[in-house]
Amino acid sequence: MEVVIKQTADEVGALAAELIGRVVESKPRAVIGLATGSSPLAIYADLARRVADGTLDFDGVRGFALDEYVGIPEEHPQSYASVIRTEVVEPLRMDPTLVRVPDGRAIDIEVACRDYEQAIADAGGIDVQILGIGANGHIGFNEPTSSFASRTRIKTLAPTTRADNARFFDSLDEVPTHCVTQGLGTIMNARRLVLVAQGAGKADAIAAAVEGPVSSMCPASVLQFHEHATVIIDEAAASKLR
Ligand code: F6R
Repeated sequence: MEVVIKQTADEVGALAAELIGRVVESKPRAVIGLATGSSPLAIYADLARRVADGTLDFDGVRGFALDEYVGIPEEHPQSYASVIRTEVVEPLRMDPTLVRVPDGRAIDIEVACRDYEQAIADAGGIDVQILGIGANGHIGFNEPTSSFASRTRIKTLAPTTRADNARFFDSLDEVPTHCVTQGLGTIMNARRLVLVAQGAGKADAIAAAVEGPVSSMCPASVLQFHEHATVIIDEAAASKLR
């Protein structure tokens, strides 16, 4: 695991965008794993600037989102299908038919999860997976105690995760209780992982993930086993590293 500490949150986004941009330049039909939430927004904004000025092209790039809520309609502004469309697909001018989000509305979620895994495999696997980290150490929505071998499946959101994400909704009651998420095994199959974290609120999770024992109590600690994982954090998120 490589850990890079930058002074500011903007620099975190810029460096991560640089790494993603290099993957796309070397492989125009690259497959990218897409995180939502606040952490990757600076990455997408940086990449969008390069698409707008014509120095980067996402036209043939495929995308697979990490997760989706269960129980809200696709058109809801906070569904990850909506967020991926407005924050990623449109600004990066990706082909929407090449971008998938787990189906949190499927009648048979187990089948939909198997289809999602199959679609990733059919695309040749994920070249680079963008990750944020929850304050409790989750990646995707793999909450503490998730199996390291897990694949895409339905999960219950931890109360702390629902509280953290309440800022995107009108009230805590509106935050879904369940989600569909790529598993830790799915994430670990990506050829490269780029995890970004900004702010003091992530400092404990980063310390546990990077320097703590590998434990399902901190799902992000599984990255210690990945051959090509880069953790890019600002000084506040790095403040509890030894
Ligand atoms: C979202 C996801 C989550 C977030 C994490 C941090 O697709 O995979 O693991 O990355 O909850 O969220 P933010 O970035 O909003 O602090």
